[in-house]
Amino acid sequence: MRTVDWDENSNALKLIDQRALPHELCILRYDDYREVAEAIRSMVVRGAPAIGATAAYGLALAARQSGAKSPEELRRDLDAAADLLRATRPTAVNLAWALERTLSAVSNFDVSVDELRAKVLEEARKIADEDAMLNRRMAQHGAALIEDGDVIIHHCNTGSLAAVEWGTALGVIRMAHEQGKRIHVLVDETRPRLQGTRLTAWELQQYHIPFDIITDNAAGYFLSTGQAHKVLFGADRIAANGDVANKIGTYMLALAAVDNTVPVYAVAPTSTIDLRLENGRLVPIEERDPEEVLKLQINGKEVAPPGACARNPAFDITPYRLITAIVTENGIAFPPFSINLRRAVEGKLG
Ligand code: MRU
Repeated sequence: MRTVDWDENSNALKLIDQRALPHELCILRYDDYREVAEAIRSMVVRGAPAIGATAAYGLALAARQSGAKSPEELRRDLDAAADLLRATRPTAVNLAWALERTLSAVSNFDVSVDELRAKVLEEARKIADEDAMLNRRMAQHGAALIEDGDVIIHHCNTGSLAAVEWGTALGVIRMAHEQGKRIHVLVDETRPRLQGTRLTAWELQQYHIPFDIITDNAAGYFLSTGQAHKVLFGADRIAANGDVANKIGTYMLALAAVDNTVPVYAVAPTSTIDLRLENGRLVPIEERDPEEVLKLQINGKEVAPPGACARNPAFDITPYRLITAIVTENGIAFPPFSINLRRAVEGKLG
């Protein structure tokens, strides 16, 4: 099934509960947009494109829950629901993008309240279907960068679970594998929530792609000893100059890759490119509960001393100068990103 899906029979949103993986494949159903907001915040669903599609379906639920008697009232209720959904995770621009797109699809219609409700659901479905289709196109472009025999370091989870289906950077790896290229993936475990160990490793098992999990701090060793040939990751927001906001640890990984002349590829749909932001310093960085860092247990005991404090930024910014290319559904953008990202968004890459 899709990571984010609409159940036609019960008219509810279905999400794979990513907190339970890899040990349980659990599907949760939602018919209240407030619970959808909580699902995004608590990372039942995560990954930039996946939370965008989820938020759009959240608006479809809000439209159904609203007791509005006029289109104006319904639009007011939708705006309030969008505010709640938007505030759940600030860094991934796909979330705000999907909400804006859904709201603007119903902004200029002189139709009945019920027709507007149907229109919100229709737009959410379109966003989800397009995401699935664009991810495959992106994977085909990106697979051209992968060579037979490549060992690739991959950060976080960017596969089917991070999107509606197929995925971004992991989608590229999967496509190259399906094309018959022999690939080995070094899976960054991705502290503190271990999206690499829990989710990417699980997905790679399903696709029969060979991999080893590595601790995040081992990446430099593999890069400096010539044991890794490429670095691939996704993005939560890309500024107009090509700075990439992605899962915490991406910056250090890119630094170590560039120091060893290993190419660094970010893979993201154009909905992740935020041309309104001049550079990455303007991206809001989500700082999550320190408990996510402190609750690590070994032998059934918490490792940190009682009373210890922690900081937990969920994302960092990799400056454009460390990025070799950015793969989108409209083709591959190479530097200068300030020109070529706009071309990618407009579908005008050569
Ligand atoms: O905190 P998460 O798990 O939502 O972070 C996800 C990432 O950082 C991914 O790399 C990013 O969303 C792009 S992959 C589709």
